[in-house]
Amino acid sequence: MQRICKRFLSTTLPNLRKVQATNLKGKKKSSQEWIQRQLNDPYVQKADVFNYRCRSAFKLLEIDERFKILQPDKEQVIIDCGAAPGSWSQVAKKYSGPNSTIIAIDKLQLYPIEGVHILGNQDFTTAHAKLQELLDDKKVHVVLSDMAPNATGIKSMDGENIVTLGYSVLKFAVTVSELDACLLIKLWQCAEAKKLEQDMCRFYESVKVVKPQASRSDSAEIFLLGRHFKGLSTA
Ligand SMILES: C[S@@+](CC[C@H](N)C(=O)[O-])C[C@H]1O[C@@H](n2cnc3c(N)ncnc32)[C@H](O)[C@@H]1O
Repeated sequence: MQRICKRFLSTTLPNLRKVQATNLKGKKKSSQEWIQRQLNDPYVQKADVFNYRCRSAFKLLEIDERFKILQPDKEQVIIDCGAAPGSWSQVAKKYSGPNSTIIAIDKLQLYPIEGVHILGNQDFTTAHAKLQELLDDKKVHVVLSDMAPNATGIKSMDGENIVTLGYSVLKFAVTVSELDACLLIKLWQCAEAKKLEQDMCRFYESVKVVKPQASRSDSAEIFLLGRHFKGLSTA
């Protein structure tokens, strides 16, 4: 039943009439375009309706619908890297087992989410030891990363930066994961992404490039999904 509801949530879009923004006077053209796009984005409206903190929720819902990362009947340990404002953690809490442990970390402030352990104002890349301490030897079933560095607009530099973040997540995931665990990493399409994908294949039986419908088609965003962690000894 839960899965059926979820499918409904992630694929059904409200029928929208185009809304024209008012009060745009004095704003830069790029801000005007952003406001106009937000107002007419069906996922922004759906996030509002279903009480998710942002539209990104639907990316994870779609991926989960296809690949069943979150298991409502299991006690999972889930780490959400780059979690602010918190919609992925909301989804993780809602669709994993009731006794699951969810840790959300972001370098920005994170407002509380019931049932989620919050680590706000923390840079993930320098917080591995802290996270491991918090885990207290518990093994992790799902590592999620929606982290992105601030974009400079220089494609090669941005690509390199997000892949570096991705490697930090991979390094952490292989250290703390349970056998058969999965890992989801957001990237931007770039030459370096291929190398990370190949390196993930050393540790995960299946690695797929995923682009959910909720990810804007004009964005370079993709997700690497590794499933069935093989353990460190096979690396
Ligand atoms: C696209 S947002 C995540 C949205 C989130 N998945 C949600 O659904 O609410 C990306 C987040 O990554 C965070 N981030 C980027 N680099 C980070 C780092 N090194 N450590 C922790 N968080 C980071 C940013 O602060 C930002 O909040």
